[in-house]
Amino acid sequence: MSVSNDLAAVGIDAISVYVPRLYVDLSAEWARVRAPEQGTDAATLTQKLTKGIGVRRMAIPDAHEDSATMAAMAAKRLIDGLALNLANIGYLVVGTETTVDQSKSIGAYVLGMLSRHYGMSLSHVGCPQIQFACIGTTYALEAAAALVRSGQLRGRSALVIATDIARYPKGDPGECTQGAGAVAMHISAAPRLLELDGLHWPSITVDERDFFRPNWSSEAVVDGQYSVDVYLDCLDRTLRASLEQHRPETAGRLLESQHFLFHTPFPRMAEHAAARLYRRLRALRGPHATLEPTASVREERTRDREVAKSDDFQAWFAKHCAPALRHISDVGNTYSGALYLSFASLVDGLGAAGRGGRVTFFSYGSGASAKLFTGSLASGGGDVLHVAEIAGVLADLDATGTVGRRRALSLAEYERLHDLHQQQSEARLEVAASVLPPRDEFALARFGTERSAQRVDVGYRYYDYVAAPRAVADVTPTARAEASLPEEAAWAQQ
Ligand code: HMG
Repeated sequence: MSVSNDLAAVGIDAISVYVPRLYVDLSAEWARVRAPEQGTDAATLTQKLTKGIGVRRMAIPDAHEDSATMAAMAAKRLIDGLALNLANIGYLVVGTETTVDQSKSIGAYVLGMLSRHYGMSLSHVGCPQIQFACIGTTYALEAAAALVRSGQLRGRSALVIATDIARYPKGDPGECTQGAGAVAMHISAAPRLLELDGLHWPSITVDERDFFRPNWSSEAVVDGQYSVDVYLDCLDRTLRASLEQHRPETAGRLLESQHFLFHTPFPRMAEHAAARLYRRLRALRGPHATLEPTASVREERTRDREVAKSDDFQAWFAKHCAPALRHISDVGNTYSGALYLSFASLVDGLGAAGRGGRVTFFSYGSGASAKLFTGSLASGGGDVLHVAEIAGVLADLDATGTVGRRRALSLAEYERLHDLHQQQSEARLEVAASVLPPRDEFALARFGTERSAQRVDVGYRYYDYVAAPRAVADVTPTARAEASLPEEAAWAQQ
């Protein structure tokens, strides 16, 4: 069936990335300690990590960070970079699978932080949270784009924010694929970065157990190899669904795409997915313009591996897929942000002069659901480049501690932070000591502890914007008021 594509323009106007300052260097102490546990040596393990999986570093949130602060930081970078007038934002939707509250939308926390920081009411803004593993942000983008396009926001634009912390048990095969970060996107009817193609984006969903996180745990449970199989099967299903619904348009757009982006939990996964897609595109280009029939899971993987070794594939991959993967190995899995971190990496690397052409996005979330959609990159847009600039976000602190922003954790520091975030221990009502005290950032300031006739807030999260370093955990509400921190103080005393 063919549908009209005569819809009002909508798309991603600008994008920004936030990555925590702390990281684990996987080839250092982590590899030396984990290698014997895995019955190997550090050099072999490092080779597996860098060549077999494609990871180097994993970003780790500090004690004062969580998914809400990371989301607010990504949004702040976008707002400041674009000089956005928040009065013109009508919708703020967050995609996350590592939320901070079992009830309240993380979007409301983010809205509160922004509202206090910029000193303006944002109560007119709808701000839901959408959860479906790593595909949540794509469902959020779809909802925001539909609202902007429909005119229901009465000319206002929308913010879509992806924020997540990927955490597996220590010693689990998934441990090396952890990561954290947030990506914020401004969605508008006059997008300067990417105009989304107007077709409905078909979704496929299958009820799967490949990866999940029970309510009692802050760590995911994953059946690693099986999760890779389900991912690739969903890619095939999505391709078929998209072609069934809009055959000529979808095939045309796929075949003319310059850039292919995949949900990327680790860089080699994008390579596996690219090999599968490459085989399908080759079949579509063939004389019968049809997909090859799928074989057994094992046989499909064998054929993918054969294709992946070919010179043709490697040249295609280097040109059309690899540019989006530049930064993933330095951040790790950002779950619902991973596809959009790839997009930011792509536009950042292309620069304003190099932008243009069609982009195909493959979005995937375990559990499992997938979507394939396309858009056209606009050329130009210098300010957009400024916002997306990522090298600075990932630069290491220099010896003076003044240039750059990232710092490696020792294994002991990493394991303390890892254990700290276990959900069981979050009945704690104190923010633990940070490795790097917050500076120029939103921070978790304290947990509520009151249960009185006047106020009940036990376990509630209070956030501050911290301009200069200080130990937020030590700041009592009274001290905060005395130190004239108006953003939170006046409101927290209510
Ligand atoms: P593993 O068992 O540690 O690794 O699990 P392996 O034995 O499969 O080896 C990985 C690769 O390294 C293999 O290459 C080896 O040959 C190679 P491949 O067969 O893939 O081409 N290798 C070496 N290469 C060079 N030198 C060496 C060497 N040794 C081995 N010395 C796994 C790896 C990724 C499964 C694990 O880390 C894991 O469970 N990760 C978490 C799950 C995951 O990311 N799954 C991806 C698909 S599901 C998804 O993307 C959704 C997700 O983001 C969540 C969401 O949606 O919310 C996770």
